[in-house]
Amino acid sequence: MHSKILLPAFYAVLVYGSSNQNSDYTLHINTKTPDSAVSVPADFFSFGFETAFLNHFCNDFSQNLVNSVGSRMSKPMILRVGGTSGDLVRFNKSQTEPTHCEGPFQCSHSSKNTYTLGPSYFDSFKWFSKTQMTFQAPIYPKAQPGNWTIASMDYVRNAAKALGQDRIAGIALGNEPDYYKYDMKDYISRALGLEDKIIKELGLEGAEKSIFELGDIPNSVIKKGSNWGLTDILKDGINKNGFGKYAAQHFYQIDGQDDPSPDQRQALLMNHTAITSRFPPIDKSIKYINDNENNLAYILSETGSAIGAQPVNFSASFGAALWAVDFHLLAMTRGVKRISNTMRPEATHSYWIPDNSGGSKTKGPVVHGIFASAPFIADFVGNGSVGKVVEIDVPGKPDLLSAYAMYNQEAKVIERLALVNLKEWYQGLGPKRGNATVSLDVGDGVHTATIRRLHAQNGAAAMGLDLGDADDNVTWAGEQWTYTVDRGLGHIPTGHVIQETVKAENGQVAVVVPDSEAIIVIFN
Ligand SMILES: *[C@@H]1O[C@H](CO)[C@@H](O)[C@H](O)[C@H]1NC(C)=O
Ligand SMILES: *[C@@H]1O[C@H](CO)[C@@H](O)[C@H](O)[C@H]1NC(C)=O
Ligand SMILES: *[C@@H]1O[C@H](CO)[C@@H](O)[C@H](O)[C@H]1NC(C)=O
Ligand SMILES: *[C@@H]1O[C@H](CO)[C@@H](O)[C@H](O)[C@H]1NC(C)=O
Ligand SMILES: *[C@@H]1O[C@H](CO)[C@@H](O)[C@H](O)[C@H]1NC(C)=O
Ligand SMILES: *[C@@H]1O[C@H](CO)[C@@H](O)[C@H](O)[C@H]1NC(C)=O
Ligand SMILES: *[C@@H]1O[C@H](CO)[C@@H](O)[C@H](O)[C@H]1NC(C)=O
Repeated sequence: MHSKILLPAFYAVLVYGSSNQNSDYTLHINTKTPDSAVSVPADFFSFGFETAFLNHFCNDFSQNLVNSVGSRMSKPMILRVGGTSGDLVRFNKSQTEPTHCEGPFQCSHSSKNTYTLGPSYFDSFKWFSKTQMTFQAPIYPKAQPGNWTIASMDYVRNAAKALGQDRIAGIALGNEPDYYKYDMKDYISRALGLEDKIIKELGLEGAEKSIFELGDIPNSVIKKGSNWGLTDILKDGINKNGFGKYAAQHFYQIDGQDDPSPDQRQALLMNHTAITSRFPPIDKSIKYINDNENNLAYILSETGSAIGAQPVNFSASFGAALWAVDFHLLAMTRGVKRISNTMRPEATHSYWIPDNSGGSKTKGPVVHGIFASAPFIADFVGNGSVGKVVEIDVPGKPDLLSAYAMYNQEAKVIERLALVNLKEWYQGLGPKRGNATVSLDVGDGVHTATIRRLHAQNGAAAMGLDLGDADDNVTWAGEQWTYTVDRGLGHIPTGHVIQETVKAENGQVAVVVPDSEAIIVIFN
């Protein structure tokens, strides 16, 4: 096959030759920015590292991967350092190792352990110098020994010093507060006490004080709708001083322990309806913030395809990359201001595994099949002035096809369109790979369009070159990112970017999106 990708010109002729009546879908596209379009921050895309594992990501491989995505953005990427372990860490100034696992769970893969940190841990914050970071001020769970504010300030002081004031994008006041076993009033008073101490410790003045990330409400709470939600803590005064900058929740598409089949990958992950069905509580939080606390930016600060013991071939295959594309693009249209994709060496949903410390569930160092979604999403956001995005209505609201348009905020015209064909296909499935033919009804303003593809010859099952064979390569516009070949710098096997140019005819641009593929159409 698939001369398709190797002979783009031929493919383009095929596409161009297909007539409108034969298209599976006709999409009506406004070429002028519609009123409903939503601004997308230039730093929308983000990665995140679990606090106690930050030092594992301090290698050239991880830094190259971060820069491969960050260099496509017009503002510095904001990395998140935080998570469950971030509420349990303790500083030991005479420890030589960066981290030391104290248990009580199996050491040293779990984020639920207590870790002691030596001074060299904090050197980690000097890495990724092209980025900014948010980090977490620990709020220890109930019944922890010692004076917790002293322990928390040890972390804040050392992290802030290593990072430098101009690279601090935010400081989270704890994480997943229902986990601590305090009542709400006690939690809020601890959080505000910490806010006060941090302001004094770092000497923050005036507008500098508005630096705090509030909530970090867990996925499970959003799903249950229990009273540890973002709106609950806001109503109870977590932002009463007005020093909040971000209001944060966490999101995993799937939360469970089984070993899902490819059919479940289709039903649960690669499914626009299933992704959309998770958004009503998020929409509610965003509306509350816009109506009542509009100094706060709503972010999803910890996210992943699946949390639990699902294997890498489910959580981080190319199928998960297509989930990631749809999830990020949908979230932008709903007013989410940043999504941070969380990683830990043991976590199977990670975009890459930085080293060989993950235990039996992961292998490292490797880049996972999900990774190429990151440069795709960053390129959809764009590297120029901030854009505005809308979801395009697909007739019949299919589960397995979605479309999004990005407009130039100043010129107020369409620049890009993304199409995501979530229909699952992989080698060994049986039937030949199908496709969706889509006719884009753009009117007179568009003359030609350039198409770039997020592609894997092995479809949804592709693991990426490091874990798979040559058919498992995952490319975005012909480029791929690996440990084996390029140490995360990215390389283009054919030596040139792969794209096709098609002409508009009678106000229509015709495109074909194979099953399990996503494309960006750039309007010229
Ligand atoms: C910015 O985006 C444009 C259009 O996609 C591209 O040509 C250019 O190379 C990008 N710049 C960087 C620094 O990536
Ligand atoms: C701190 O680290 C030193 C050196 O490893 C060790 O001897 C000491 O017991 C540690 N202290 C605590 C309180 O963990
Ligand atoms: C903990 O230490 C702080 C000084 O950072 C002090 O203000 C506070 O009273 C101490 N708390 C307890 C319970 O000792
Ligand atoms: C992952 O691999 C296991 C073992 O080969 C297999 O049983 C399972 O179906 C695969 N999962 C997916 C989603 O391909
Ligand atoms: C997609 O998800 C929805 C909602 O969970 C479900 O009803 C539907 O059957 C799924 N579609 C496919 C093709 O699996
Ligand atoms: C799309 O699928 C149809 C059959 O459903 C096939 O005839 C056509 O060749 C395919 N087009 C491309 C470009 O793969
Ligand atoms: C997969 O990538 C490797 C490394 O760039 C390259 O040698 C190989 O030809 C690619 N395979 C296919 C099928 O394109």
